[in-house]
Amino acid sequence: MHGAAFRSLGLNIDYRAVDVAPADLAEAVARLATGPYLGANVTVPHKEAVVPLMHELTPAARAVGAVNTIVRRGDRLVGHNTDVAGFLQALTELRTPDGGAFEPATDLAGATCLLLGAGGAARAVVHALMSVGADVHVLNRHADRAGRLVEQLTVPEAPAVSGSARAVNTAQASLTGARLLVNTTSVGMSGGPQPHGVPLLDPEHLTLLPGGASVIDLVYRPAETPLLAAARRRDLATQNGLPMLVWQGALAFTEWTGVAAPVAVMRHAAERGLVGEPQ
Ligand code: ATR
Repeated sequence: MHGAAFRSLGLNIDYRAVDVAPADLAEAVARLATGPYLGANVTVPHKEAVVPLMHELTPAARAVGAVNTIVRRGDRLVGHNTDVAGFLQALTELRTPDGGAFEPATDLAGATCLLLGAGGAARAVVHALMSVGADVHVLNRHADRAGRLVEQLTVPEAPAVSGSARAVNTAQASLTGARLLVNTTSVGMSGGPQPHGVPLLDPEHLTLLPGGASVIDLVYRPAETPLLAAARRRDLATQNGLPMLVWQGALAFTEWTGVAAPVAVMRHAAERGLVGEPQ
C-alpha cells in the first residue's frame, strides 16, 4: 500500500517490514532518529511498548496509550495514533438510511455504540467514538479487561472527549437502540481463533438493532465475516476493516511526507494484496 503510494507520486522512498524482537525494540527505535528515516509504522505487539520511547506524543496517542505511527522531526520522534482518525475517516464511507454520507460528529453525538472486544484495536476505536460524543458500550469475553479499558480511557484529562464509555455484560440491551456495532475481536478472521464464528452475540440478536444501524467489522480477511453476512441479511449498512486500514495508512503517509496521500492508489494496492492471500 505504501510502496504503491510512493511510486505513484514518484517519491524515492522505501517502505519495508522489519521484524523486531521485544528485547531489541529500544535499539530499533533509537536507530530511527539517527538513520535516513522519515519514520515507521508500529504493529503488534509493540504499539504500547514504544510509547515511553517517544520524545513527544500526539493527544490521540497519549489518550489511547498506543502508537501506530512514528514521525521523525529532526532528531526527535513523535508518536501518533492514526488508527483513531483513520477509523473516523472510514466511518464517512458508510451511508445513512436516507442515502447521505455518514458524518461521525453529527450521526454519533449522543448515540449508543456497541463495541465487541477490549484489545489494542478496541482502545483506538473507543477513544475515537468517545471523541465524537458517542456513548460506547464495551463487551468483551473477559469482562475485567473491558472494565480496565473503560477506566483507562475515561480519564478527565481529555477535554476534547465529550462521549462516555462503560463495560457491559451482554449484547442484548445495548443492541436495542444502538446506532453502530463494531467488532474489534479477531473472531471471524481467517486463520484466527474462530474463523467461522460471530463474536459475543447470537446472530439472531442483530434483529434487535434499529433498521438504520450500521455494523463494522475491523476484520478484512475474509472481506465478509459471518457477522457482516448476518448484518447484510438484515439489510443493515456494513463495512469491513479495509477502509480503516487504508485511512490509517493514508494519514501516516501525509505525516511522513507532508503530501496528500493517493488514497485510491493505496486502497487498490491493499485490495490487490489481499486477493493473493488465503481466505
Ligand atoms: P488487537 O490488538 O488486534 O485488538 P488483542 O489485544 O489480542 O488484539 O485483542 C484481541 C481481542 O479479541 C480481545 O478482545 C479478545 O478477548 P479477550 O480479551 O477476552 O481475550 C478477543 N478474542 C480473541 N479470541 C476470542 C474468542 N474466541 N472469542 C471472543 N473474543 C475473542
